[in-house]
Amino acid sequence: MSTFSFSLAATDGRARTGTITTPRGEIRTPAFMPVGTAATVKAMLPESVRATGADILLGNTYHLMLRPTAERIDRLGGLHRFMNWERPILTDSGGFQVMSLAGLRKLTEQGVTFKSHIDGSKHELTPERSMEIQRLLGSDIVMCFDECPALPAEENVVAESMRMSMRWAARSREAFGDRPGHALFGIQQGGVTEELRGESAEALTKIGFDGYAVGGLAVGEGQEAMFGVLDYAPEMLPQDKPRYLMGVGKPDDIVGAVARGIDMMDCVLPSRSGRTGQVFTRRGVLNIKNARHMDDPRPLDEACSCPACLNYSRAYLHHVFRSQEIISSMLLTWHNLHYFQEIMEGMRGAISAGRFEAWQAEFHATRAEGDI
Ligand code: GUN
Ligand code: ZN
Repeated sequence: MSTFSFSLAATDGRARTGTITTPRGEIRTPAFMPVGTAATVKAMLPESVRATGADILLGNTYHLMLRPTAERIDRLGGLHRFMNWERPILTDSGGFQVMSLAGLRKLTEQGVTFKSHIDGSKHELTPERSMEIQRLLGSDIVMCFDECPALPAEENVVAESMRMSMRWAARSREAFGDRPGHALFGIQQGGVTEELRGESAEALTKIGFDGYAVGGLAVGEGQEAMFGVLDYAPEMLPQDKPRYLMGVGKPDDIVGAVARGIDMMDCVLPSRSGRTGQVFTRRGVLNIKNARHMDDPRPLDEACSCPACLNYSRAYLHHVFRSQEIISSMLLTWHNLHYFQEIMEGMRGAISAGRFEAWQAEFHATRAEGDI
């Protein structure tokens, strides 16, 4: 039976490229995971998401447990069949979303009780229940149940939160059990304090996981502070396991994270921005809503091979955005996801060829050229 494994093919500086093998297919790393919170990457058919180059999607315990419920998805054959995506799915464990989305909530050593943001109904999440939900969903990569304090926070608050997350990591490991072909990832916490990150890495490594996430970043600390942590945090985690930076980020965040030893990332940015008219290109960010695009016959990016760029002008995309036509979200999301995946492919190729430094220089130079 095929199981879960990670093999590094090449490194260049601290950057790595390789392959995660799962029974549902391979994940080329560095990998960007589009976010499919509610069992859909909004405005995209799954086959279109695949066409952008995605090997894996992210789903959310929190949203799916509330609606349509994990038990219902299980009865319908699991999340892959439910949403028509047969490739790997990673699910986040819920705690992070409870803290950012739920109404009234109460955090104890046991877990967290909260009121649904949808109908106000009462629910509980614990490490054990999160593992059960992620099993019912059929997730390929299951995340530990953790707590992520908003930054800035007092160091002793971050320390106590991290230590509870480590106790929850041990409970998650115990509840997950032995499930061949499915992976469980630990989540490092510790804010922006090196010693706490070290303590967290040590606790997780001692428990033993199939991969390790760097959590607790991109929560308001800014890029400089985040890169500061990424200058030491990935190295604290086992070399031979995938390292996943949660919830990141903008194109330059992603490139900087890979340069510092990160293998996987996820972010709502390309898909959410696609629905608000924000477009990421090699030359920088543009907003299609801007009146300057009204008469522009050019594509979003002449060098892009996505359907939005091959077949439509900025003038058309401006028009359908302004008219609130559904095709606007479809085309802009497709373009953004395609661009993010193109960055990942570029990095994988450059790391393999030992020219990642030059690739980064070109990435930054192209974006600095100015008017887009
Ligand atoms: N998404 C972004 N950051 C985090 C984190 O620290 N923990 C979890 N579980 N999910 C996240
Ligand atoms: Zn495009």
